[in-house]
Formats: sequence, structure tokens, C-alpha cells
Amino acid sequence: MPIAHDLAAQFARRFGRTPRIFRAPGRVNLIGEHTDYNEGFVLPAALELATYVAIAPRGDRRLCAHSCTFDATVKIDLDDPAPTARKHWSDYVVGVVLTLDRAGQRLTGADILIWSDLPVGAGLSSSAALEVSVGYALMSVSGIPVDPIALARSCRSAENDFVGMRCGIMDQLISCCGLADHLLLIDCRSLDMRPVRIDPSVSLVVCNTMVRHELASSTYNLRRHECEQGVALLSDRLGGIAALRDVTPRDVATYADLLPEPISRRCRHVVGENMRVLEAVAALEASDLVLCGRLINQSHVSLRDDYEVSCTELDLMVEIARSVPGVYGSRMTGGGFGGCTVSLVETEAVDRFTETVGRAYHAATGKAPQIFACSPGSGVGPVCI
Ligand code: GLA
Repeated sequence: MPIAHDLAAQFARRFGRTPRIFRAPGRVNLIGEHTDYNEGFVLPAALELATYVAIAPRGDRRLCAHSCTFDATVKIDLDDPAPTARKHWSDYVVGVVLTLDRAGQRLTGADILIWSDLPVGAGLSSSAALEVSVGYALMSVSGIPVDPIALARSCRSAENDFVGMRCGIMDQLISCCGLADHLLLIDCRSLDMRPVRIDPSVSLVVCNTMVRHELASSTYNLRRHECEQGVALLSDRLGGIAALRDVTPRDVATYADLLPEPISRRCRHVVGENMRVLEAVAALEASDLVLCGRLINQSHVSLRDDYEVSCTELDLMVEIARSVPGVYGSRMTGGGFGGCTVSLVETEAVDRFTETVGRAYHAATGKAPQIFACSPGSGVGPVCI
């Protein structure tokens, strides 16, 4: 693999040794947005775009990690009892190390070189790919067997407790468990996963708006809090609910008097989105692409109007995409406030789609979008040099 080969050569120049190489992918989510931290359902696929880690163990308890993306090196002491986050890319590395250490995994020191072809901040889970690739690589060179689900949990905890982003588990789990040519239906409560095949007559096409709005992480945490408030308020009348996963669209309508705005709309999005995921899976399995596309479109409207995590550029990209013949549906994907859309497009129409959407979005915004069709790939693992 040329990327691995180049990375090994760079590593040898920088550290004077031969490394092992590991890779963890980013993701695109077809439907099921802001449902993971509500213990609901998601339907992501792992991308071919990924973060690569070249690594060789050291004889001490230090990490020397260089990021090619940021052209910066950090030194980390594995015995530092209380490291602090500094709003820096290395927080993801330190967070994972700390979480694994606290879980009793004795990691070795290592020299690490990190390279990625995932755009940073584009909503394709570059952070999860960084966490998972570093965690997997460090455990591997430390001789610790990796349980992919346990690793996903540790990486999610690193992001929640060290970085301060209260994300759900979708991104880390698909980066650990992705399956080539498949979407994965994930139950974010039980972590049960079911592969869902994509009909070869259609492609998932990602369009990057090339914008990222400031609101992304603060509003994300606020939305999560609003969902928790919804559960607390509904608990007054609905016994035994632990998360919005346990609430139906009918409950939200019936107990509307308990839910002030905007909590009521936030709840409506989550409970409706959970149903849409299951309906979309049934539609894909029945090769009903028209229905699947309709659900994707409804998801976008709900994220835009009820959950309020879209933005002008995402709405525009979706609108342009939907006007192209051969498109079944289009929506924002990921956390929102910029980043990417995903469209379900007839495979034969992908070239025309790429050209038309690229031209129209550029004409309207002055920005040249990155557009690509995905071939769902596999989860984290070693790469042969
Ligand atoms: C981000 C988070 C995920 C998920 C999505 C929204 O990508 O990291 O856990 O909540 O937003 O679906």
C-alpha cells in the first residue's frame, strides 16, 4: 500500500527505525443523527479515508508523537498522573492513553507518526479515527489484545471525559467495527450491530460544504442536555424511561404539555429519527430506494427545523443535490453546523451529480466543494507495508 510505504519511509527518516502501521477509518452516517447519545439507532459506514499511525515501541514510558496534518510534535509522559487538556490535537492522544491506563492497560512508550487523508473538522470523524488508530496501535505494540467494542468505549470516554465533547459512541464504534461494502445498523444501547448491504445500483455520495461553524461543539453539548431534560420531564408520567430511546412519537404528542419549547422539538426529532432508521433499514433490505430516499430527506428537515443543527450551506447543498436527476435523497451527516452532506444517488448518475452539484455550489458560495462516492471499508487494523 503506497500510503503505508511512504509513511514507513518518513518514520525511518525521523526516528531511525522500522515501524508497524495501523489504520482507522472515518465514517459517513446514512441516517440516525443525534440518536446515539439517546441510546437509539444509527446507520453509518466506515470510509476509505482514514488516519494512519506508524509506531515503534521505546524502552521508556514516553510517547513522542508527530502529526503530519499539523506538522507538530508532542512528548507525553505515560506516568503523568494528571495531564490536562489544552484544546490541541494531542488532547485526543493523551485522552486515549489516560483512559486505557485507568482501565488497567499497561502501555509501552512509543515513537508515533500520524498521517490522515480525512479532512479535519468536516464531520467525517477525524477525531474518532485519531483516537482509535492511536489506541489500537499502542495496545498492539504493548502486546495487549484488542477488543474492538471495548476500544470504542475507551475512545468515547476519552472524548467525553478528557476532551470535553459529550459525543455518543457511533463514530468510535464504526471506526472500530466497520465492514467492507456494508452499512452497520447499530443499536447504541446494546451495541448490537447488523450489517446492511447497499444495492450496487446506488452510491453514497459525500459533499463537503467546506465550512465549519463555531457553534459545533458548544451546541452539541447543549442539545445533549436538552434531551436529558426531555427525559426528566417525561419521566413524571412515563415510568421506567432511561433515555429518549424509550419514548415513542406518540408519547411526545400525548405529553406535549410537559415539554416546553424547544425541548419538545428536540425530543420530536430524536424519537422520529429512531423510527426512520429502522424504516430505512427495512427499505434498503427490500430494495425500496424511493422510500429510503424519502426518509433521508425527512431526516434533514427534522435536523434543520426541530433539532436546529443545520446551517445555510448544508441546506443549500441538500437542495442542489435533490434537484439532480437520479438522487433518491440527501441530508446533512454528522453533528452539523457545517461539514458534509450524504446523498443516495443512482450509481450511473454519480458523475453528472458530482459535476452539477460542484458547479452550482461553487457558483452560489464561491467555495469548491469536495465531492466523492464512498465504498464502505473495514474498521481499524494493521496495514501491510
Ligand atoms: C458527532 C458525534 C456522534 C453523533 C453525531 C450526530 O459525530 O461524535 O457521537 O452524536 O455527531 O449524530
